[in-house]
Amino acid sequence: MEALRRHIYLEEEIVFPHLQRGTLMMPLMVMREEHGQLWQRIDAHAESVQNQSGEPNKVEEICPEILALLDRHNQKEEPIIYPHMDADLSSDDQEKIRDLLAGGAMPSDWVCEAMR
Ligand SMILES: [Fe+2]
Repeated sequence: MEALRRHIYLEEEIVFPHLQRGTLMMPLMVMREEHGQLWQRIDAHAESVQNQSGEPNKVEEICPEILALLDRHNQKEEPIIYPHMDADLSSDDQEKIRDLLAGGAMPSDWVCEAMR
């Protein structure tokens, strides 16, 4: 779940700002909206793990929901957004992304744009 949050962070803070123009504006709006849906489910998952005395099947419900959302999201994001990552990002930004994917930390108080 933390890796998923970090992934959303690197897309919204490093990748998307380079791609805002022209035909990608609409797809990026949809990507941000879906990040918000994922973020809410990740929050719900974290809450249900912490409060295990609550509903016992909550975690089992939320995990498939997250996987289904992620699947629909990736079907769009991979063909539309990812091809631009090599072409449109500076080598500095590509380095930042590699560090984050390798386990680097995002700011602890960061939330995705749709949740602000
Ligand atoms: Fe994404």
